[in-house]
Amino acid sequence: MKYNFSTIIDRSNTSAIKLERLSSIFGNAQALSMWVADMDFATPPFIINRLKQRLDHPILGYTDADNEYNNAIVGWLSNRHGWEVQPSWLSFAPGIVAGLNHAVQAYTQPDEKVLVQTPVYHPFFYAINNNGRELVKSPLTYNKNFYSINFYALEEEMKKGVKLFILCNPHNPVGRVWTRDELTKMAEICLKYDVTVISDEIHADLIFKPHKHISFASLSPQIAEKTITFGSASKTFNIAGLTSAYVVISNPDMLKTYNRQVELNGTGHGNIMGYEALKAAYSSDGQIWLDQVLEYIGENIKLVKEYLGANIPKLTMVDPEGTYLLWLDFRAFGVDQPELIRMLTRDAGIALNDGQMFGSDGTGFFRMNVATPKSNVQEALERLKKVFGSL
Ligand SMILES: Cc1ncc(COP(=O)(O)O)c(C=O)c1O
Repeated sequence: MKYNFSTIIDRSNTSAIKLERLSSIFGNAQALSMWVADMDFATPPFIINRLKQRLDHPILGYTDADNEYNNAIVGWLSNRHGWEVQPSWLSFAPGIVAGLNHAVQAYTQPDEKVLVQTPVYHPFFYAINNNGRELVKSPLTYNKNFYSINFYALEEEMKKGVKLFILCNPHNPVGRVWTRDELTKMAEICLKYDVTVISDEIHADLIFKPHKHISFASLSPQIAEKTITFGSASKTFNIAGLTSAYVVISNPDMLKTYNRQVELNGTGHGNIMGYEALKAAYSSDGQIWLDQVLEYIGENIKLVKEYLGANIPKLTMVDPEGTYLLWLDFRAFGVDQPELIRMLTRDAGIALNDGQMFGSDGTGFFRMNVATPKSNVQEALERLKKVFGSL
């Protein structure tokens, strides 16, 4: 491998949320931190170099998304995902969470229904609740360590007047990379009931073979007309601190509505460093780095699976098809959530996301981030074994 992902990089004194909030959230500042979804790997050198080059210019004033930036996005979506988009379909978001809020405000009115598939990335709930919209949960079905969609139940909810559907594609935290068949069935239901779709595709690049990411809007011109897609280089290349994301909307009226909301919120200006980083990331260097990081993360996932099978068979893992987030099922221990939290943070000294933050169907589950050097994963597994191995 050309790149080194094994070195432990000290993140202390960088105000990294993953470390700074250990004490306030987990009550254990020394816990092994495997919660927040960023990587413990160095941001790729070709991105850092590009940022340094930009700093050679003495002025960091207001800056637009230029052609090079837009073309980098268009090229990446085409090369990596086979999705052909036009530069004129692009808009900006200062992070996807901000963009989700803009979109909820733009495409729905107070009290209208917005549907999500639980368990799901918790800021989806906030974007709906905080904006005074009605949250509709359509739970995923969990069977034999695998999550699938109950299309009947989904349609029953859509029938009742859902206005907007926030799709997590691929899905955090359960690691599903939705298939063409699944996406097509969801699209058919949305078209039937005239539901607008936000497809959050932040994890689109983090896919393990043979799975393949398919952009929801790429399914058909009809569904593209009803869809707004969020993408970002942040998760893939570990640049989340640059708070920069993009939006793809092919329907000109929907794009206008989105842009008007951005204007109302005064959030239309991007961050110079976000623009520069994306230009460096969405390149041939980026393709090589990404393939290598995926191989490394894939080995970490294999390590977890084999270790749990051999040492803590009651603790099972949902095989992720994408994302670097493992969804661990502790339910076989028969211990309630507060006690599981204590066992993990106090006894094992590991900080994992409490599954309940992703919805009540996350009870008994915890999310573990394995975009970290293998030695950290090994350490976490040994700590888990000490606490759960003999139960
Ligand atoms: C599905 C999903 N959307 C959005 C985000 C965050 O996006 P941003 O940092 O651009 O707000 C995350 C981060 O974990 C995520 O998992």
